[in-house]
Amino acid sequence: MAVTNEKSVSEAIKYRRSVRVFKKEPIDEQKVKDCIHLATLAATSSNMQLWEFYHIVSPDSIKEIAAASFDQNGAKTAQQLVIVVARKDLWRKRMHANISFLKSQFGNKPEAEYSKREKFAMNYYKKIIPTIYIDFFGIFGMIKFIAFQIIGLFQPIYRQARQSDMRIVAHKSAGLAAQNFMISMAAINYDTCPMEGFDSVRIKKILHLPSSGEINMIIGCGLRDEQGIYGERFRIPFEEVYHKI
Ligand SMILES: Cc1cc2nc3c(=O)[nH]c(=O)nc-3n(C[C@H](O)[C@H](O)[C@H](O)COP(=O)(O)O)c2cc1C
Repeated sequence: MAVTNEKSVSEAIKYRRSVRVFKKEPIDEQKVKDCIHLATLAATSSNMQLWEFYHIVSPDSIKEIAAASFDQNGAKTAQQLVIVVARKDLWRKRMHANISFLKSQFGNKPEAEYSKREKFAMNYYKKIIPTIYIDFFGIFGMIKFIAFQIIGLFQPIYRQARQSDMRIVAHKSAGLAAQNFMISMAAINYDTCPMEGFDSVRIKKILHLPSSGEINMIIGCGLRDEQGIYGERFRIPFEEVYHKI
């Protein structure tokens, strides 16, 4: 991987701003791809990696996507776009990928020879993950949710089992990957603009995504124009959001 991090993590975090106007200067496609690679190293719930990344470099496609994003500047002036997609629907595929990985990590030995820790890990993907993810038009999810609420009266239990909860699980991890991407870009002096202002139906159509795939964020990429940052960074006073217990 050829990403040279010119900035430290804290420098990159401070450098990153949402840039709404990008220079008409091209950026290196491979460097952006390297940053997408770094995005995939983000923490992800149960290591399920329920995400996909669409790297849009064709000017015609950028134009089409910008039009479906209300022609907002962050998309319209972008040199490239990265679209982070949450793919909750791929859970079975990702579960099997994790199981195969674990099997190889454990030396492809028979399960009877697994250590306690290995058994637990395998059980997690073979039994717990399907229990959490399996659903049938939201019905099974609701039954699980009610059952978990009842069990939860007596003991701590994982409660996020509805279809809507699982969407949040997938989007949370996709958001972390998006942030990894933007910080990696900032580290090499590339700029980004995260956007959720778009017509998701039209974007999904352009990307040929199934209805179960959900757009997490569209990220405009390029180099900041002098007028590209609309104002000073504003944050709520830290004391208001920091709680020490
Ligand atoms: C999930 C998400 C969606 C956003 N959607 C848009 C958007 O549609 N258009 C836009 O111009 N900025 C968008 N932003 C950028 C925010 O307005 C911006 O992050 C915020 O004002 C803080 O500024 P900063 O990123 O420069 O620190 C979005 C940011 C996030 C995290």
